[in-house]
Amino acid sequence: MSDTGRTDLATRRLRPDAEGVASAAALLREGGLVAFPTETVYGLGADAGDGRAVAGIYAAKGRPSFNPLIVHVADAEAAGRIVEVTPLARELMAAFWPGPLTLVLRSREGAAVSPLVMAGLPTVALRAPAHPVARALLEAVGRPLAAPSANPSGRVSPTTADHVLAGLGGRIAAVLDGGACAVGVESTILALEPEPRLLRAGGLPVEALEQALGQRIAVDTDPARVAAPGQMASHYAPKGSVRLNAVAAEPGEVMLGFGPVGGELTLSASGDLREAAASLFGCLHRLDAMGAGRIAVAPVPETGLGRAINDRLRRAAAPRS
Ligand code: TXA
Ligand code: MG
Repeated sequence: MSDTGRTDLATRRLRPDAEGVASAAALLREGGLVAFPTETVYGLGADAGDGRAVAGIYAAKGRPSFNPLIVHVADAEAAGRIVEVTPLARELMAAFWPGPLTLVLRSREGAAVSPLVMAGLPTVALRAPAHPVARALLEAVGRPLAAPSANPSGRVSPTTADHVLAGLGGRIAAVLDGGACAVGVESTILALEPEPRLLRAGGLPVEALEQALGQRIAVDTDPARVAAPGQMASHYAPKGSVRLNAVAAEPGEVMLGFGPVGGELTLSASGDLREAAASLFGCLHRLDAMGAGRIAVAPVPETGLGRAINDRLRRAAAPRS
């Protein structure tokens, strides 16, 4: 039986040791849904070749079915069984995998990936995570894993197993608890054809990609575009309203600080963008837990990881549909 649509599962919290990883792998091979840590955020994994299991992801997240999923693989060789790896893609994989870079590439004829994963597109988004628990799990399962962030659709991405259980407990078989995610924002998404295009700013700064490619990369993160259908304007939303670029809280607001702008919570008191990325979603979850109805956020510079942070903050502040 697939667990599609069920809300009464006793979700297991598995330890990130050999036994926990083996249990998680067994559940995934049976078509179950298991959340696992990556260096960016927790993913909600399913066997990418099992259409019923993939359908379970959409059901558990309450996600619109036109939204394609990222496929997680161990390495470039595994990627080559699913997509056409161009010379440029091979270079980027050698430079940045495993790590927080997702590449969108043309799928291969007969690739063992459910069409539901691609949601009708001729391309697949692929990444090789660096987190040791994710790598151990991919090795134990021996199959590519489709995995979006492990949160209900439209809500804040999870960076701890507790966040996963708060959002999806009862809807998934298990979560592998690997502690807090080091990067804290999702992977950078790059499409390669016909020209390199940034579809989502993320954990790998676009400047690093531009340096490796020796060229400027066009930015194509317009939420209205079909190219990245998951990039809905209202996304990553805490329950309260969000006001950006605030230098002080107005009456009734809870302040989320950065650098010299202090607050009840801060992304990074020292103004460190890595620390801010790692703490961003945890802060938004804490603001939810505090019942913050109105949130003011300090300005964050638009460079390096600041682009990914500001992208998530703008979505958090967008009008809700
Ligand atoms: O860091 C991450 O990338 C995390 C961890 C779990 O790996 N995953 C993640 O997945 O953020 P998700 O499903 O929440 O975001 C996937 C994004 C969506 O914006 C989706 O539209 C886009 O990738 N995407 C997936 N396949 C695509 C494709 N073929 N072409 C363009 N965009 C695609
Ligand atoms: Mg997501």
